[in-house]
Amino acid sequence: MEMENMDGLCVTDCERCPALVESRSRIVNGTGPEDASILFLGEGPGANEDEQGEPFVGRSGSVLDDALRDVGLARADVRITNCVRCRPPENRDPTKEELSNCRGYLEREIDLVDPDIVVTLGKVPSQHLLDRSVAVTKEAGSVSDARLGESSRRVLVCLHPAATLYDRSQKEAFEETIRQAAELAGVSDESSGQSRLGDY
Ligand code: URA
Repeated sequence: MEMENMDGLCVTDCERCPALVESRSRIVNGTGPEDASILFLGEGPGANEDEQGEPFVGRSGSVLDDALRDVGLARADVRITNCVRCRPPENRDPTKEELSNCRGYLEREIDLVDPDIVVTLGKVPSQHLLDRSVAVTKEAGSVSDARLGESSRRVLVCLHPAATLYDRSQKEAFEETIRQAAELAGVSDESSGQSRLGDY
């Protein structure tokens, strides 16, 4: 798929969503290895992300970083991206049209990274990929296949990291899903320990 306004995995210019062009200060592209085995998908950039040009750099990002560290992973080991790449005004949810305008960029990124598992952080990305209504609190930890462009992808539903800030009782469920993601991708502490042993 050729896209003249993409440079590899990065969207360089786009003006498809007038309200987002107005509210953004930049396009926030995904970050992390181009061959990551886990890809995290958020909703869209917030104020911090818009300012720094990187997904999940605010408080939600710290929650994600901590949970990754607990399973022996670093932010630099995973791909992190969003359903829309421009900050919506007043942090509102992206509209159906905005999600669909950005869909091709997302599909291309997922296609090229080719992760073993896509982890949807919260309701908006879960519903966007599974194309149905999702009760994230109930469905966190469930894995299903989603059609993305030409291919089918394994999708793991996860709470949004910010949910753990509003409600501490959600923290364990969030951490458990991150652990599950590492296991499904074969990069958990346990599996990497085994492959390291095999190297000797
Ligand atoms: N929340 C999201 O969904 N995405 C970000 O990049 C940051 C916070």
